[in-house]
Amino acid sequence: MRELVRETSIEPRNLVLPMFVREGIDEPVAISSMPGVVQHTTDSLRRAAAEAAEAGVGGVMLFGVPAVRDAVGSGADDPDGILNVATAALVSEVGDALVVQTDLCLDEFTDHGHCGVLSPSAGSGGDPIIDNDATLERYVSMALAQARAGSHLLGLSGMMDGQVAAIRHGLDAEGFTDTLLLGYAAKYASAFYGPFREAVDSQLQGDRRTYQLDPGNRREGLREALIDEAEGADVVMVKPAMGFLDVLREVRDAVQIPVWAYQISGEYAMIEAAAANGWIDRRAAVLESLLSIRRAGADTVLTYWATEAARWMTER
Ligand code: PBG
Repeated sequence: MRELVRETSIEPRNLVLPMFVREGIDEPVAISSMPGVVQHTTDSLRRAAAEAAEAGVGGVMLFGVPAVRDAVGSGADDPDGILNVATAALVSEVGDALVVQTDLCLDEFTDHGHCGVLSPSAGSGGDPIIDNDATLERYVSMALAQARAGSHLLGLSGMMDGQVAAIRHGLDAEGFTDTLLLGYAAKYASAFYGPFREAVDSQLQGDRRTYQLDPGNRREGLREALIDEAEGADVVMVKPAMGFLDVLREVRDAVQIPVWAYQISGEYAMIEAAAANGWIDRRAAVLESLLSIRRAGADTVLTYWATEAARWMTER
């Protein structure tokens, strides 16, 4: 009877695996704050993506970790840059089996670690100011490089104003009308991104509070999602997931397009750490977290457990 009346279910196809690929390494490198997650070589990346496809996962989201960085993130739109090269490799390996997605943001590629290019003047207290419109130009160029590499879905995670419209326009003008856009609409400035900073060897000092949302703001998250939908996003994201389930529910109820949620690095690290101490049942906690994010309204969940959880889901 419980099976018959269960309201929410989650399947492997509802999961997306975020993956890191690092330039200039011969062996995968462990990320200490994310036990079980690694920075991949291009070879190990292909193998791990093939395993995800085998497990029935719906897609992969690729992040690049370059060997060299500069102020404008030149590696991001270089066709020979690590992210673009790895994207092409993944598309040829698993492009028919799952949706290959790429992170579209400059933070991994800049020597200051911010998601955009900096304006020459500093803000109050000496905080750097991001030049929104100069950043949009960089994003369009990055979008074209990713589209040329074969990415199916671009993950717009930089939180610049007007990024969805600018990139949609730039892609269409070059004939990439079928390259889809995932707008990280309600992306909150969160302490729980901590482990990700290690994962991408981030150079960031400080925080991203001038362009990511204030965790206290629910209506603003909803507003950002509606704006992204109107600008032409194919999917919108709420991120982080578990601290923002209320926002997720409201966004799901307000837009017509798919709504995804990102179970981020800190959420992963917390469950892994508690489980490693024997304080919680790892498998049960992972599956419950994913089910809860679905129940709150996510059509799809980005999770570092995607392949393993997909296997558990089909075992049951
Ligand atoms: C920005 C980006 C971040 C994450 C995904 N894309 C970092 C940030 O905004 O600080 C975080 C993902 C995670 O914590 O798992 N490119």
